[in-house]
Amino acid sequence: MVLYDVPGAPSRISEVGPGSSQWVPAAAELASRLLGPTPERLRHTIGVAEHAEYLSTVLNGELGTTLVAAAWLHDIGYARRLRETGFHPIDGARYLQRAGWPPEVYDLVAHHSGARFLAAAMGLESALRPYPFVIEPLSDALTVADQSSGPSGERTTVERRLADQLRRHGPNSPYAQTYPQRGPYVRSCAFRISALIQRTALPGSRASGSAKGVPAAEDVTRRGNAKPLSALPFPAIGS
Ligand SMILES: [Fe+2]
Repeated sequence: MVLYDVPGAPSRISEVGPGSSQWVPAAAELASRLLGPTPERLRHTIGVAEHAEYLSTVLNGELGTTLVAAAWLHDIGYARRLRETGFHPIDGARYLQRAGWPPEVYDLVAHHSGARFLAAAMGLESALRPYPFVIEPLSDALTVADQSSGPSGERTTVERRLADQLRRHGPNSPYAQTYPQRGPYVRSCAFRISALIQRTALPGSRASGSAKGVPAAEDVTRRGNAKPLSALPFPAIGS
């Protein structure tokens, strides 16, 4: 069954249900097809999706599936055939909307990683307006997954990623112009997600009864695989 890229069948992907497990393989296949001609971009996307998979464990099932699907799709707007405005969050969201993906996915794509700041600097506020933005764990998690994955998908820190964007795009770029607003927003996403991870550490962990209810780093686990919080590519609360 084709679940994407179906002109004339705008609700096809929605019909499989909110947060359906079918969203993720459909998103992965679509992203791989559209970004195949740009292997480095695809490697970055794979890194973001892997990170989103990890972060999805602190969201409930439907939200987690939405996050991972959006992670696969967040940069498809870079594909040449999707180019309209030249700003990939908007171009990707427009395509997904036309192809029948649900709003909870394409709204995330439209706003990932502080896109609203860059859109304003590029004179594209009106193009972004149809896509509502809400600060919530989903949007925070997608931004963290993206902003802690390097250009080739390698794991990095939010601070290194922000600095790298300034260096690559130059001092006159929208990234530089919006850094005073976008930088603090990206950091705030990282802090909120770090706090959420600590709050949702598995019950019964050694630190679950620790002072202030904050688990120790080594007690944060995911799907049975121990992963120290200190290994996360963004700062933990209080660090
Ligand atoms: Fe990205």
